Amino acid sequence: MMEDFIDRLRSAADIVSIISDYVPLKKKGRNFWGCCPFHNEKTPSFSVNPDKGFFYCFGCQAGGNVFNFIMRIENTGFSDAAKILAAKLNIPLPEKEKSEQDRAREKELNKLYQINEMARDFFHSCLVKTSYGKPALAYLASRGINDAVIERFKLGFAPPAWDKLLTSFLARGVDELSLLKAGLIVARSSGDGFYDRFRNRVMFPIADTRSRVVGFGGRVLDNSEPKYLNSPETPVFNKKHVLYGIDLAYKAIRDAGRAIVVEGYMDLISVQTAGFQNAVASLGTAFTPEQARLLLRHAPEIQFAYDSDAAGQNATQRALITAKSLGAAIRIVAIPDGKDPDEYIRKYGADAFRNLVQEAAGFVEYQINRILAATDYTGLEGKLTVISQALPVLASSDNDIEINTYITRLADVLSVDESAIRSEFRKYLRMHKKDKNVKSGNNINIVKISTQPAAATTAAERQIIRLMCEDAAIIPYVMAELRSNDFEAASRREIINSLFNAYNMNKSTAPAVIAATLGEEANQELSQIMLADSRCDNVTRVVDDCLRTIRLARLKYQYEQQRNKVEELERMGDSRCLQELAEMQRIKDEISKLYNA
Ligand code: CTP
Ligand code: MN
Repeated sequence: MMEDFIDRLRSAADIVSIISDYVPLKKKGRNFWGCCPFHNEKTPSFSVNPDKGFFYCFGCQAGGNVFNFIMRIENTGFSDAAKILAAKLNIPLPEKEKSEQDRAREKELNKLYQINEMARDFFHSCLVKTSYGKPALAYLASRGINDAVIERFKLGFAPPAWDKLLTSFLARGVDELSLLKAGLIVARSSGDGFYDRFRNRVMFPIADTRSRVVGFGGRVLDNSEPKYLNSPETPVFNKKHVLYGIDLAYKAIRDAGRAIVVEGYMDLISVQTAGFQNAVASLGTAFTPEQARLLLRHAPEIQFAYDSDAAGQNATQRALITAKSLGAAIRIVAIPDGKDPDEYIRKYGADAFRNLVQEAAGFVEYQINRILAATDYTGLEGKLTVISQALPVLASSDNDIEINTYITRLADVLSVDESAIRSEFRKYLRMHKKDKNVKSGNNINIVKISTQPAAATTAAERQIIRLMCEDAAIIPYVMAELRSNDFEAASRREIINSLFNAYNMNKSTAPAVIAATLGEEANQELSQIMLADSRCDNVTRVVDDCLRTIRLARLKYQYEQQRNKVEELERMGDSRCLQELAEMQRIKDEISKLYNA
């Protein structure tokens, strides 16, 4: 039923005319070209392929079918995109299949969002429009927060009384039960009546990606405890899923290709105000897999800028493991002097913080430094400790150049023979070859390698790049089957983009010419690829095998993503779950088709 509807849309939608509603397109060769609506550009690198029904931007790698385009440009989910398409194509929506229960649930959630939004506005006007707000305004000013920032984050103040919100909301027809459900009031222990949960606190409204207010954090104005009070779990507030600032950050995260994660409310406000709009706060110390997935939906890299105190560093360590096990690229921004990002920016300014971000360490660098800092390695025992802790870290890297660099550095710092470390490393790899979960001696490094590019995929990606470099005639063949996004490693995506670009522009695709267009990492990768020993008899077969391996890896990844999405919607009781489930099934079917091919 729903699938029929989607199929009808799919076949009725002419991708060129749909996209032309948003982007002026010009025909050039088989494809249509225009300036990409998803990133800033003056020369067109956004292409639409009418035969295959997809679009692709060579500048920002945005791509997909007509549904993906609408989802992205209208910032909606699949079902809303389908509705928009249906309206454009004059295709009637299918009869609603929602159960009575679904509808009731949806109504309840919408009511909570609405009450939360009212509460956000209530707190905000208490801060900026009433005399109650004066001490809070003074407090915020003392922390360097000006009116524009107050507006941007819709900061507020909960008055120092027991029932200001309660009486005001009752007068406006909101019932106590709903306020209770929203976590805005608390039942008196005597069992008779209620009082406001948030009193005499600066209020930070927390929104989801779609800017719906899901909950609040409130900070005291002095040193009393608890310093922060947050909304309790409610049907719309699940701390595991929340990222403070995501509503303001997600577009910038996409543009930057990375997110910055800080711990606290004030850190987030300072970091975003300092110009890093791609920042979010994980609120407290535990960074959850749910939060990681939310970010990875927008960008592949996460930069952690946690407090530099011991608690912050422990939190970083746990967060790295969570993020890495989900396949995130990771960097760590080290804040010196035991400060948090807010204190650092207030003291040294935005430019100093920018430098810290630019110098952010990679995963291996950070771990090795940490191990060295924690160990006295003057004696033999210390040296052995460092090496045994460093081995699993090195093994977590799939970049031989990185591994070699750190082996050399360790040898240097520890005054140990480099070949000795190398042989220990080989021994370690041999011992752990079958055990994909690499554990270090001191419980900190449980890094799941299984989610990193499988060796077969890496080999296939490299192989196909080499074949294209050696014979440009293969390029259009590959181009018809794959997008650069289908490749797992960022460096290889860069190479592919450059190759496709050069081919499309009728320029030379010789490796040396391509190399000149690449960043350092991609350049190294290309050299490595071209240096490898290559000899194959049946090029067509090899290309096909590579294509299949790469497509399978990509589909499996998409399947995982989709499954997470479905699970999340299911948990939230969101009725879009069904459509997403259909998409999950579709991916699964594609996978089995490939397997049987
Ligand atoms: N936190 C919390 N409840 C607490 C303490 C902290 O929820 N009782 C969360 C808040 O999200 C807070 C974050 O943990 O922002 C980091 O805590 P901490 O470093 O103690 O506070 P700061 O963010 O530095 O707060 P401030 O700068 O306002 O003092
Ligand atoms: Mn702070």
